[in-house]
Amino acid sequence: MGMMAAFDEKLGHNAADIERALDVLLAAGPLSGPDAPPDRLVDAMRHGTLNGGKRLRPFLLRQTAQMLGVAPELSLAAAVSVELVHCYSLIHDDLPAMDDDDLRRGRPTVHKAYDDATAILAGDALLTLSFAHLAEHGSTAPAIRARLVVELATGAGVGGMVGGQMRDIEGETTPLDRLGIARMQAMKTGALIRAAIRMGAVLAGADNDALGHLTRYAEAAGRAFQLADDLLDVTASPEALGKATGKDAGRNKQTLVSMLGLDAARRHLGDIVHDAITALTPFGPEATTLRETVRYFATREN
Ligand code: IPE
Ligand code: IPE
Ligand code: MG
Ligand code: MG
Ligand code: MG
Repeated sequence: MGMMAAFDEKLGHNAADIERALDVLLAAGPLSGPDAPPDRLVDAMRHGTLNGGKRLRPFLLRQTAQMLGVAPELSLAAAVSVELVHCYSLIHDDLPAMDDDDLRRGRPTVHKAYDDATAILAGDALLTLSFAHLAEHGSTAPAIRARLVVELATGAGVGGMVGGQMRDIEGETTPLDRLGIARMQAMKTGALIRAAIRMGAVLAGADNDALGHLTRYAEAAGRAFQLADDLLDVTASPEALGKATGKDAGRNKQTLVSMLGLDAARRHLGDIVHDAITALTPFGPEATTLRETVRYFATREN
């Protein structure tokens, strides 16, 4: 099997694992709290979470953990928690008050299939569920579970994804310089990718040295991921992408593509991928899949 085919197969296996785990978790039984969950809310949560999604953040978490010696089944719960936060972030990102998108993963967005209030609540419920799942099942070691919760909260919260979404919205009306764009992107997209990789390292009990190298890799991988997303918004078709295209220009979003132009943005993407790969040098051949992952980030077509 060629290298790319082997990589695609790993990605596919991970996606199938995550899909299965999410499907079980998002059944009415496990969701019951003091009372039964409303069907409409559960259906909306499932719509925003199941059937689609590349599951890249879970993949990064699990590949990092595996590289450092953790068996794949032991990283599944933490990986599912990160994906739940990601899916919630997409449901809210698509709302009329934010990016106002109708299509996601080739299907109507949650607020289109249901309504705005249901989409807001489905996002809230996925976020809450994520942390309950992580705190309960993230690891058998209580101290590691607590650290995983802190990593995910840091990546998802006001100094991470949520704060970055605020900067992204502000950027629709306030000019950003190049550093401002980079910071906004590091927060809105980079922070959760960084959390996923660091959570994989925390699960493995990595020392500070390894954590530092992996954090450098993660930050470069996050930049590469969002730059590729911004390039695809300009160059890809809605059919290939499963979401509308040309919407960044349409909403006056500031991106490195709007600032640098397509050619310079593509060259910059190559440099970032190189930075990410360089950060993995201390891990030697064990880090092959993580190297392939950031190359895939830059060459993906959806
Ligand atoms: C899209 O993320 C949103 C961004 C952070 C740019 P993905 O491209 O990972 O979306 P799915 O989960 O595969 O649909
Ligand atoms: C999304 O960025 C970042 C999130 C935190 C969800 P985009 O707004 O560019 O993502 P898409 O293009 O809608 O998937
Ligand atoms: Mg957005
Ligand atoms: Mg969007
Ligand atoms: Mg985008």
